[in-house]
Amino acid sequence: MNDRKIDLPVREMPRQWYNILADIRLNPPLKPDGAPMAPEDLAPVFPMNLIEQEMSTERWIDIPEPVMDVLSLWRPSPLMRAKSLEKALGTPARIYYKNEGVSPPGSHKPNTAVPQAYYNKIFGIERMTTETGAGQWGSALSFACSQFGLACKVYMVRISFDQKPYRKAMMQAWGGQCVASPSSETQAGRNALEKDPQTPGSLGIAISEAVEAAVSDTSGKTRYSLGSVLNHVMLHQTIIGLEARKQFALIGEEPDVIIGCAGGGSNFAGLAFPYVRDKINGREIAIYPVEPAACPTLTRAPFVYDHGDTAGYTPLLPMHSLGHAFVPPPIHAGGLRYHGMAPTVSQLVDEGLIEPQSVEQTEAYEAGVLWARTEGIIPAPETTNALAQVVKEARRAKEEGQTKTIAVSFSGHGLLDLAAYDKYFAGELKDVCMLEEDMRASQKVFADFPKPDSLTSGK
Ligand SMILES: Cc1ncc(COP(=O)(O)O)c(C=O)c1O
Repeated sequence: MNDRKIDLPVREMPRQWYNILADIRLNPPLKPDGAPMAPEDLAPVFPMNLIEQEMSTERWIDIPEPVMDVLSLWRPSPLMRAKSLEKALGTPARIYYKNEGVSPPGSHKPNTAVPQAYYNKIFGIERMTTETGAGQWGSALSFACSQFGLACKVYMVRISFDQKPYRKAMMQAWGGQCVASPSSETQAGRNALEKDPQTPGSLGIAISEAVEAAVSDTSGKTRYSLGSVLNHVMLHQTIIGLEARKQFALIGEEPDVIIGCAGGGSNFAGLAFPYVRDKINGREIAIYPVEPAACPTLTRAPFVYDHGDTAGYTPLLPMHSLGHAFVPPPIHAGGLRYHGMAPTVSQLVDEGLIEPQSVEQTEAYEAGVLWARTEGIIPAPETTNALAQVVKEARRAKEEGQTKTIAVSFSGHGLLDLAAYDKYFAGELKDVCMLEEDMRASQKVFADFPKPDSLTSGK
């Protein structure tokens, strides 16, 4: 029997998403002036059907049939056992990964791009705007928009735009239009360029540009889309964990450890949230979001109210934040260079239900190369952060002689990130650690904002 690949038939694909807001409480989003946010305040930015989903506390939400149809182009994604890696590490741990690199754009991002494009389309929207860090999200939204006949405009963080020229071509192949951010097309972009003409850009700046481009379109037919952070994005990604549960049931196993890299939190949440529910209900399971030490949002930054973007256009969200004006060092895991984190993921950290970890850039690439030489797939730079944690856990299991089962979200392949591998092989990649004084300085921006309440969800 093939015990490497655990496939799930298309007919077994989950037909509902899991909404963690049925099981935990969040501080509400606030307007920039601190007043409570009403659904209609978000209407110029998102279509109302997605705003309703953002605020829903229904535990199970049906996946619309046209969305199921497009997702079935590559879903269910395989659950794979990393047997060669286990052997190379000589570990008694059993390592499984959910391979999200099999989607057309190469990552987990289309799991939410497809439903977002669908909900915009049925709301009568004709054009979507967004930002992208590494280029994975911009590719995913371009792909999804092409499936539903929508136009797509992507503001891509300058450093990634320069490092990954083929991402732009990929977006174009799906009909998307991609410009480097900061651009001179928006006020937010012009302000950022005036401040620093050589800026590598940041997700915070690119979000400001994409939001501004959507709300300033007077036709009313353009909306903005976010590829991570928000509740509805985490919701759509839970298809990863819901499929994984069915696949583990097929082999009669249960994971003891769940691992995912965390930029805005969505691929981690996708795999982890169904298991967080088990943990709330009393099951013992270790759950680790993993971030780069260069951008230590969950491991070192406080839980506060802060803007999701640099210009301050977005609501104040209750989250761990390095400060909305923070421009992270130009590390190669572009999708993990974000100052904030999903409010749901932040809340779970605050409650001790999940335990954040951080890894150094070179440690991550070392794990990525070991993975390529054992499991064969070249991981995206973001994904290597999760894999570094897998290697640590597997080594610990060996030291302790424990046969635990580890499940990791393999968020994407790195075939368009080879320039970064090139630098790693040339010894040019550096470890970057944020100094305490820089942390303190970047956090001044939210000093006067309201503070989130401490909430607990424990049953
Ligand atoms: C392959 C890959 N993994 C992970 C991430 C991080 O995003 P998130 O934390 O929302 O999953 C990104 C973001 O661009 C990505 O491209």
